[in-house]
Amino acid sequence: MTHLEKLFGLQGKVAIVTGGARGIGKCAAENMAAVGADIVIFDLLEEAAAQTAREIADKYPVRTASFYCDVTKPEQVRERIAAAADKMGTLDLLLNNAGICIQTPVEDVLPDEWLKVIDVNLNGIFYMAQQFGKWLITHNRGGAIVNTASMSASIINTPQPQASYNATKAAVKHLTKSLAVEWVSKGIRVNSISPGYIWTDLTAAIREDYRNAWLAQIPMRRMGTPQELAGAIIYLFSDSAAYTTGCDVIIDGCFTVV
Ligand SMILES: NC(=O)c1ccc[n+]([C@@H]2O[C@H](COP(=O)([O-])OP(=O)(O)OC[C@H]3O[C@@H](n4cnc5c(N)ncnc54)[C@H](O)[C@@H]3O)[C@@H](O)[C@H]2O)c1
Repeated sequence: MTHLEKLFGLQGKVAIVTGGARGIGKCAAENMAAVGADIVIFDLLEEAAAQTAREIADKYPVRTASFYCDVTKPEQVRERIAAAADKMGTLDLLLNNAGICIQTPVEDVLPDEWLKVIDVNLNGIFYMAQQFGKWLITHNRGGAIVNTASMSASIINTPQPQASYNATKAAVKHLTKSLAVEWVSKGIRVNSISPGYIWTDLTAAIREDYRNAWLAQIPMRRMGTPQELAGAIIYLFSDSAAYTTGCDVIIDGCFTVV
């Protein structure tokens, strides 16, 4: 084993990646496979999830699987985690990443829209972490979770109105710390990443005038790529981060600094 593999390798680890069919989750899954992790994709996009799993298995010498899983359904989450463990033999890592963003001025947000964002971005993260952690505890195993928060946990984005998104991401950042403390004695580390503006289907769907406004606000004058998050995610899962838990890593081209 090379020194780099010792520091950052995920050989023999089994990782679930939610929202892994595309975007940040897909790119992270590919990179985790490249350093040795077996990958299980959970997503609503069943076909795209299966396709991602096939592409990864074609490219890297790892095992992959995919499951339809709606992270807002606690019983389904429990079942699919058990099914993933059965299929792969064990579980070690969770990239808890599925999320949505709906942009509406606060005065026009309907209760259903508010609840939908809370349900996916906060309840979904909780149900996945809860059942994954419970599986590890029940099987007397340590492991690691990385939750995808956002720089929106720390700042308020403009000009787009997205109070629900910002509130959920702040909650994910704090939930991460709560889980880290609660599970520190169980050998389960829990950290979050907080990306700035990253070019994916999610941001591509946002109004062009908003995106142009962001470029003027970002000190680096560009959006980031999913690839620019992958190394931080691998670090947080790796043995190099054995003493790192309850931590939020901001990767935002300096956005939150100014
Ligand atoms: N793109 C950015 O600029 C950015 C910045 C900060 C944080 N994030 C966060 O990163 C994560 C991934 O974002 P992305 O840009 O890759 O978005 P994306 O829309 O490309 O991918 C999100 C994935 O989550 C899946 N998903 C949505 N709801 C789900 C549910 N209920 N159950 C299971 N899967 C579900 C979607 O099907 C999709 O495959 C999200 O949590 C997002 O909030 C993104």
